[in-house]
Amino acid sequence: MAMEKDNNAGGTLDGLPILLTGLQPTAGIHLGNYLGALQNWVAMQRDHRCLFFISDMHAITVPGSGGGQLRKTTMDCAAFYLACGIDPEKSCIFIQSQVFGHAELAWVLGCLASVGQLERMTQFKDKSGHSGGFIGAGLLYYPILMAADILLYNAKRVPVGEDQRQHLELARDLAEKFNGTYGAFFNVPEAFVGNVCARVMSLQNPLVKMSKSDENTMGALFLMDSNDKIQKKIRTSVTDSEGSIRISAEKPGISNLLHIFSGISGDSVSALEERYAGVGYGQFKADIADAIIEKITPIRERFFHLRREENFLANVLEKGRIHAQGCALSLLDKVYDLVGFQRRFTEE
Ligand code: TYM
Repeated sequence: MAMEKDNNAGGTLDGLPILLTGLQPTAGIHLGNYLGALQNWVAMQRDHRCLFFISDMHAITVPGSGGGQLRKTTMDCAAFYLACGIDPEKSCIFIQSQVFGHAELAWVLGCLASVGQLERMTQFKDKSGHSGGFIGAGLLYYPILMAADILLYNAKRVPVGEDQRQHLELARDLAEKFNGTYGAFFNVPEAFVGNVCARVMSLQNPLVKMSKSDENTMGALFLMDSNDKIQKKIRTSVTDSEGSIRISAEKPGISNLLHIFSGISGDSVSALEERYAGVGYGQFKADIADAIIEKITPIRERFFHLRREENFLANVLEKGRIHAQGCALSLLDKVYDLVGFQRRFTEE
C-alpha cells in the first residue's frame, strides 16, 4: 500500500482549514446547542472545509437512548443541521456510526491515554455522579472517541461550546503523544469557542449550564418547543429582585438572558444594556421570547419540510458518508502503518 500524497497536511485542504464538529442526537437541540455551536458552524462554512457529523456512537453512553428512538433522533438531527443553514453543497454531513475508523482510531489513541487522565475529566465526574450506581466504561472512554473523531480527519479547527474545551485539550494531548511515540503525523487541533454564548445557562438555575438532561424541564429551551412554551419558559426564567438589566456576576439570570438575546439578535450586550436601561423585566423577557420565536420559526418550518423529504436527507447523508469514509480510511491506513500493524491487501 503506497502512502498517498498528503492532501490534508497541517490540517488544511485546498488551502482552507479543515473544520470538524458534531453533536449528540439525544433529546432534541436546545438553545445552548444552537447559540453555542450550530449558529457558529453555519457562518464558518464560508472559510473552512467543513465536516459536520452526528455523534450517535456517543449518544449510547446515555442510558436508554439507543434503539428506534436513536434512529429517529439521528435523522431529526440531520434535518436540523440543514434547517439551521448547513449547506450540503459546501459541507460534508455524515453519521458517525456509518463511517469505519472512528472506533479503530479510538483504540489506538486509548492505548496512549492514562486512566487517571480520563477519570479527571469534569464531564465524567459529573455524569458518573448522577449515574445511579452503574458507570459505563463508555462514559470513561468517551473523550477518546471524541479525540478520534477529530484526528481521523486531521481537523485544524473544532468549534464547540465551553463545556467541551477540556475534551479538546485531551485531543490535543493525544495528538502530541501519538506524534511523540510514532513520529510527527497529526495536526494538533484548536478549539474554537465563541465569546457570547459559549455557555448558555439553565433558565431555572443560571449557575449551571443549559442541558438536555436537566431534570427541570423548564430549564432548557428546545428549538422544537411551541411558541407558547418558549414564552412561558422565558417568562418564568429565574432572575433577581434588583430590577436593572445589566451584566453582573451577582445577576446570573439577567446576564444569561442578555447573552441569549445578544446571540439571537446579533446586537452586542452593551447595546442591549443601553436599550433596556430603565425597562422592566417583564417587557425585557417578552422581547427576548419574541426574538427567539422570530429566529427559530423559519428553522422549525424548514425542519418539518426536510423531515418529510426522506430521500433527499438519505442522499445527503450517503454523499457525506462516502466522502468521510474516503478521508477516514486513507488516514487510518497511514496511522496503522506508523503503529506497525500489517498492511491490508485490497483489490485496488
Ligand atoms: P453535545 O451534543 O453535548 O453539544 C453539542 C454542542 O453544543 C455545545 N453546547 C453548549 N454551548 C453553549 N451552552 C450550552 N449550554 C451548551 N450545551 C452544549 C457543546 O459544547 C457542543 O459544541 N461530545 C460532543 C459531541 C462530539 C464532538 C466530537 C464535538 C463528539 N465528537 C468531536 C466536536 C468534535 C457533545 O456531546 O456535544
